Amino acid sequence: MKEELLELEKKARRELDSLKDISSLESFRIHYLGKKGLLTSMVRKMGDLPPELRPEVGKLANRVKKELSQSFEKTLERLEHEKGGATSFLDLTLPGREPLRGHMHPITQMFREICDIFMKMGFRVAEGPNVELDYYNFEALNIPKDHPARDMQDTFYVSEKVVLRTHTSPMQVRVMERKQPPVSVISPGKVYRRDSDVSHTPMFHQVEGLLVDRGVTFGDLKGTLTSFLHQMFGKETALRFRPSFFPFTEPSAEVDIQCILCGGKGCRTCSKTGWLEILGSGMVDPEVYGFVDYDPEIYSGFAFGIGIERIAMLKFGIDDIQLFFKNDMRFLKQF
Ligand code: DAH
Repeated sequence: MKEELLELEKKARRELDSLKDISSLESFRIHYLGKKGLLTSMVRKMGDLPPELRPEVGKLANRVKKELSQSFEKTLERLEHEKGGATSFLDLTLPGREPLRGHMHPITQMFREICDIFMKMGFRVAEGPNVELDYYNFEALNIPKDHPARDMQDTFYVSEKVVLRTHTSPMQVRVMERKQPPVSVISPGKVYRRDSDVSHTPMFHQVEGLLVDRGVTFGDLKGTLTSFLHQMFGKETALRFRPSFFPFTEPSAEVDIQCILCGGKGCRTCSKTGWLEILGSGMVDPEVYGFVDYDPEIYSGFAFGIGIERIAMLKFGIDDIQLFFKNDMRFLKQF
């Protein structure tokens, strides 16, 4: 009991010293010294002590009560003084308030991580315009007017010949127009489609990749993307190259990774299949070389397109794509 009293005294003093305003002083009084306060209830418990101990503990309790009351009065004086001359009390020893520090948006973090991996493999970064000519977004990628593939991408048209790019693939053409092989570039950026639900937003992000040189094979595509995905999701992650179709690549493949949430057993995120589609890719279609003056007899290459939100959602375990764009600090602060 003696120890309890001394402990209580210590705690009360510490609290008194740190009090900053009179209203919290009142709650201090009620808590420690009030009729139902801690000290009173301890004194009541003294009845349970063996009689020979009571005098000593009683004396201690009285001292604590007296001294705490005195300190209480002193603190009241101090606070009243401080209130009077509001700025007269300036404690230079108090630690300063740390300024709030921002950080990269999770999408930016993903961009950087992806670009870092490809840059280590020798790719360069090239960015292109968000407002793009129909020619680059579609025509030169072997998607002529009235091609059914245009329906897959609900396009925002600025005018008949100008669109908000629906993918980052137009950068393939822009890069090849400017430079003869060898080329190896990646192109991160925003893309736009008329679409909005839990898994779609009208603006989202992609990274495009392109590598063209002499003698590039599908094996190079597989090796490069495998290395990338293993660096991104871990060496153990199983991959699956699945035949697909894109107008600007032939042959084309979509790449799936084994669901990283359920380990391939099948869950809601992978629709019970155990696999998650993660990117589109293929060997650049010779038709495209026709638009940029590359000789398909000499050169070959591969291209790929990666959806950033999808990767970020998997890496961070996020189930609603809209969260990336609401700028809710409670969400963003977690990254
Ligand atoms: N541009 C395609 C899309 O947005 C993705 C894509 C697929 C890009 C295959 C490529 C590729 O470079 O080879 O759906």
